[in-house]
Amino acid sequence: MAARNRLPPWHEMIRTADGREVLIRPIRPEDAVPLGAALPLLQPDELHGSFLQGQAPTAATLERLSKPDPRREFTLVASEPLQPGEAVIGAVARVGVLDGTGQGEFAILVGGFLAGKGLGRHLMRRLVRWAKGKKLDRLYGEVAEDNQPMLALAESLGFRREATTAPGYVRVVLDL
Ligand SMILES: CC(C)(COP(=O)(O)OP(=O)(O)OC[C@H]1O[C@@H](n2cnc3c(N)ncnc32)[C@H](O)[C@@H]1OP(=O)(O)O)[C@@H](O)C(=O)NCCC(=O)NCCS
Repeated sequence: MAARNRLPPWHEMIRTADGREVLIRPIRPEDAVPLGAALPLLQPDELHGSFLQGQAPTAATLERLSKPDPRREFTLVASEPLQPGEAVIGAVARVGVLDGTGQGEFAILVGGFLAGKGLGRHLMRRLVRWAKGKKLDRLYGEVAEDNQPMLALAESLGFRREATTAPGYVRVVLDL
């Protein structure tokens, strides 16, 4: 996978191993509608454990996701290289800073048609870079204990496992 071109901050054109051109960029308000169209196409088990917590996305959720507060939230999407609003969204990754703490909680969702092509790893690395730039102490995520792909990805990026009170979940933590 190769990144190219001079683009605005946090924008990258990526070519996946199977030749797809994907634009990684911060989410935009115009993405609310395409995001709403994309999420129902994902499998329930893809939504499970993600930032939607298995819920169908409501208009209010899409509005909130597509307008992150820049002081405490960072959300990237992987989209077609078209105008926001016209481009299909294939993946979303976000960090939200917990108020009054140095902790950020991440969530990530890569659509099945883009899975296994290195995008999840790439997006996680960008979330870590953002969290370090914000001088956060730690980045963590709640992951279903049977979510082997996410646990393996987190572990390979240096996250350690921690117990959490949510049954069936583990917390993966990266000290920054
Ligand atoms: C977990 C997820 C983000 C991985 O994204 P992806 O783009 O498919 O992952 P990548 O192609 O970048 O692979 C990265 C690593 O993930 C792990 N992985 C990915 N798919 C896997 C699979 N089917 N089985 C086991 N490990 C897998 C591997 O460690 C892989 O590293 P490798 O390529 O060196 O073997 C994606 O499957 C997803 O969105 N799942 C549903 C939502 C979710 O579970 N979110 C996490 C909770 S916040």
